[in-house]
Amino acid sequence: MTDYFRKKVHSTKLIATFDDALILPGYTDFNPNEVDISSSIGKYQFNLPVMSAAMDTVTEEEMAIKIALYGGLGVLHRNCSYEKQLKMVRHVKRARSFVIDDVATIKLNERVSKAKLFMETYKISGLVVVNDDNKVCGIFTKRDIPYSEEDCKKLVKDYMTKDVISIKPGASREEALKILFENRIEKLPIIEENGQLQGLITTKDLKPEFSLASKDEEGRLLCALAISPKYPETSEAINKLKEIDKFVDIFFVDVADFYKKDDIEGTKKLMDTLEAEFVIGNIGTYEAAEFIITKCDYQAEKFIGIKVGMGSGSICTTSIQTGVGAPTFYATAQVADAIADYDPKIGLIADGGFKNPGDLPKAFAAGADLIMSGHIFAGSTESPGFIDTIQGRKVKVYRGMGSTEARSSGLISDRYSIDSITLAEGVSGYLPYVGDIEAVLTTLEDGLRNGMIYAGAKTIKDMKKAPIGIVSVVGQREQGPHDLFGRY
Ligand code: XMP
Repeated sequence: MTDYFRKKVHSTKLIATFDDALILPGYTDFNPNEVDISSSIGKYQFNLPVMSAAMDTVTEEEMAIKIALYGGLGVLHRNCSYEKQLKMVRHVKRARSFVIDDVATIKLNERVSKAKLFMETYKISGLVVVNDDNKVCGIFTKRDIPYSEEDCKKLVKDYMTKDVISIKPGASREEALKILFENRIEKLPIIEENGQLQGLITTKDLKPEFSLASKDEEGRLLCALAISPKYPETSEAINKLKEIDKFVDIFFVDVADFYKKDDIEGTKKLMDTLEAEFVIGNIGTYEAAEFIITKCDYQAEKFIGIKVGMGSGSICTTSIQTGVGAPTFYATAQVADAIADYDPKIGLIADGGFKNPGDLPKAFAAGADLIMSGHIFAGSTESPGFIDTIQGRKVKVYRGMGSTEARSSGLISDRYSIDSITLAEGVSGYLPYVGDIEAVLTTLEDGLRNGMIYAGAKTIKDMKKAPIGIVSVVGQREQGPHDLFGRY
């Protein structure tokens, strides 16, 4: 007698989500200030184990810079041209660094209007003025821009500061700080003996005001960018990607379902072509992780993480539209086991579905190393887009990358299996405006820290050992406020 379908339909496999689970309290033998929430993937250490999603209403330069300054990581989206991607990654890499190698310069005989436009476009406060041999001749800052339009037609050399105070290559941070302070200046070009420009040091990059920032070996902010798993068809596109690669630490392969032959092979070619490290995703099962870790022949030093979760994002409709999905909580546990079995060096990022700070400890207890969210960040000041007002409430737009609106650019269609605009796999909507990201991150961090204290976990590693229970459907009602007559 066949029982294949009956077994399948009546299977006891529970596809648990964050709301289904609770962490059980544990014994706490440490002080609250001893809790360590730092985590890592590959060689990268994060003081705040939180990432903002690669979505065009969540992460562009402003978000990426802010989150990295607070110890997390913002993954820049890819729903734009290579040129815009290059502009974003350069911006992030230039944001905070002891030495800027890629100094913004302008030629002596360029017009002031050009310098002004350049500074506004790239949001920089000053340019080093050089001659045709790249020898430094002056500095042109915002303060040198004349008020009248007519004067802006004049040349940079007429308005620049000619006496440039500079420093020699190889000088220490302390030497640079001393010169900057003694001369009450903010920019210090690094000039070689032959007069050529080598780099730039700025006051704001020297100030250690963000001690928890996520930085590379040279002290610059970490930069991550989403990438399609499709290997570019033209050499021109490959060259553009290589240019972008110079500013990127980690590429995040960005597709709804990575467990596909073409995407796996495309990613292999990309990994062999580009220098940066890779996080691949998304996947949702033990089998997918096992296959990717053991059968895909990815370079071990480049393949540093897996991102998991399919269909549980707040703007996702993939599960509804296709009937297939692996909610983040379930997917995290599945992939964490495969990583433990085959390659514990690989990091795990739980992506999407986070509604409350309490969901973070649950993700770590299920095996995650870091978490990623779009929903939590899309309503903040730092997300792209304007603050709108609806019925007196301040709001910002948040849209799924599979929504008709996001897909209309034609640049992100390959995130989904079929390039179909009629079958949208995401929706767009509004979120309440929540102010600056700082307050949002503090709330997340407090929820995580308190959760760890209740669970008796001093570190994220300890948190992975915390026991989890599944709450009954009836019992879930008790987890939130209940039996009150309204709220006050
Ligand atoms: P949250 O819950 O933070 O989830 O809104 C963000 C994550 O959802 C994924 N994503 C999508 N998934 N359709 C989907 O099925 C979409 O349109 C879509 N847009 C984003 C993505 O992994 C993101 O990090």
